[in-house]
Amino acid sequence: MRLLIVGTLEGYITAAGKIALQKGAKVAHTDSIGGALNALRGGQGADLVMIDVKLDVGMLIEALKTERITVPVVACGVATDAQAAVKAIRAGAKEYIPLPPDAQLIAAVLEAVAEESHAIVSRDPSMGSVLRLADQIAPSDASVLITGESGTGKELMARYIHRKSRRANAVFVSVNCAAIPENLLESELFGHEKGAFTGAVARRVGKFEEANGGTLLLDEISEMDIRLQAKLLRAIQEREIDRVGGTQPVKVDIRVLATSNRLLEEEVRAGRFREDLFFRLNVVNLVLPPLRERPADIAILSQHFATKYSEANGLPERKVSPEAMAMLQAHRFRGNVRELENTMHRAVLLSRGTEIGTDAILLTGAEPAAAAQGYSAVAPVAARATAAAQPPAGEPGASGTAGLVGRSVADVERDLIIDTLSHCLGNRTHAANILGISIRTLRNKLKQYSDEGVAVPPPAGGELDRAAM
Ligand SMILES: Nc1ncnc2c1ncn2[C@@H]1O[C@H](COP(=O)(O)OP(=O)(O)OP(=O)(O)O)[C@@H](O)[C@H]1O
Ligand SMILES: [Mg+2]
Repeated sequence: MRLLIVGTLEGYITAAGKIALQKGAKVAHTDSIGGALNALRGGQGADLVMIDVKLDVGMLIEALKTERITVPVVACGVATDAQAAVKAIRAGAKEYIPLPPDAQLIAAVLEAVAEESHAIVSRDPSMGSVLRLADQIAPSDASVLITGESGTGKELMARYIHRKSRRANAVFVSVNCAAIPENLLESELFGHEKGAFTGAVARRVGKFEEANGGTLLLDEISEMDIRLQAKLLRAIQEREIDRVGGTQPVKVDIRVLATSNRLLEEEVRAGRFREDLFFRLNVVNLVLPPLRERPADIAILSQHFATKYSEANGLPERKVSPEAMAMLQAHRFRGNVRELENTMHRAVLLSRGTEIGTDAILLTGAEPAAAAQGYSAVAPVAARATAAAQPPAGEPGASGTAGLVGRSVADVERDLIIDTLSHCLGNRTHAANILGISIRTLRNKLKQYSDEGVAVPPPAGGELDRAAM
C-alpha cells in the first residue's frame, strides 16, 4: 500500500505518516497539489492520497479526473472544521479523517482501500466453498498451498488470506520463484552478507527477513530449483534462515503461503519437488476451480471488469449486452480470469456506445462460440497473437496465417514474443503464460533478441528479474 500525503496536515504529518508506516504502508509526502500531480504522473504511484483540507481538494480531484489518473482521495483536517469536511466530501473525497490522526481510523481507511483493489469478486457456489475454507483457515498460522490453473486468482487468494489473518496489519511480501533466475533466488529469499560473493558490497536482507512478523508468499513454487528447496524446507521447519555467506542463523516469524499451477504431487513423483517440502506446505490446500466451471462468476466478473475499465479510462459505464454475455458464457477461457479481464478491457475500448455488444468481444482461440459469431477459424497461435498483441485494432478476426507467408518461423516467433510481452506491459510471467512457454525459455529468447540488438520491453515494476535482462 503506497500512501501519498499532500500538504502539512496542520502539523500532524509525522503522526499520520508514522501510523500509516506501522500499518505497513509506504509513505511519501509533497507540500502542494502540483507536487502530488507530478509524483503521480512520474510513475511514483499511490494507492491512496491523503490531502490537507486547507488545500483545494476539488481542484486535485478534477485534475486527476482530466488526466485519467485513478486513485482514491481522502481529506484530513482538524476535527472542529465541519464545513471544510462537508466541502471536501462534496468535491469527491472518499472519506474525511479528523486530526489529530487516530490510529484505528487510519488503519480502517487503509484496509478499506486495500480490500477494494484486491477484492475477490465471486458468486459461483464452487468458489463459495473455497472462500469458506479460506475464511476458516486464515486466522491460523498454518501454511497454505493454493493451486489452480493460470489466471484463476491464486495471488488474489493469498492476499485475501493475509487480510483475514492475525497478521493483517503486518507486511505481505511476495516472491515470484519463476521470474527470478535460479542463481539469484537464494539471495532474494535469504539475503547475503557483505563479501559473500564478488559484488556483494553490503549486507542485503532477503524476503524472509523482510516478511518478519507478516506473511510470505512463495509464488509459483514448483519452479524452484531442487537444491534451494532443501534450504527452504529448513527455513520453514526451523523458523530460521542463513544469509548467503552468513555464519549466524537469523530467527524469523512468518507465515508461509505458496502457489503452483502445476500439480505438485506429480512434480514429487517425477523427482522435481521434494516430498517433505510438499507435505510442509500442503497443510491446507485451496484449489481454485477454472473459470469455465464457474458460470455465475463469468457473469458477475465480466460486468465488474467492464465497470472497472470504463472508470479507469474515464469513459461512461458500459453494460454487457445479453448477446455478449452468452458469448462469454460459451467460451472456454484457458487463461481464466486474467483472460476474461483482458477481454473486457479490450471490449470497453472497442465498444462505441454504452453497451458492450458481441462485436466488441474478441475471444482467443478458435472456439465454436467465437466461430459462430463470424470469426475465422485461425490456427491457435495466430489467434492468440491477434487478440493478445493488437487489442484495439480495426478488423477483428480477419487475420489467418496468409499474411505471414514468406516469413521465417523464427522471425514470426520473435514478433509474437515481443508483442505479447509489450501487451503484458513487460510482465515476463504473464507473457510466458499466454505464450504457453516456460519463463526460462522466454528469458533465454529475450536474451538472444537483445544480444541481436532487438529492443526488448523492460520488466514490469513488480518483477524482480531486472538483473537477468
Ligand atoms: N475473483 C476475482 N475477482 C476479481 N479479480 C480477479 C478474480 N480472480 C482473478 N482476478 C484478477 O485476475 C488476474 C489474475 O489473478 P491472479 O494473478 O491472482 O491469478 P494467478 O492464479 O496467480 O495467475 P498466474 O497463475 O498466472 O500467476 C488479476 O488481475 C486479478 O486481479
Ligand atoms: Mg500468480
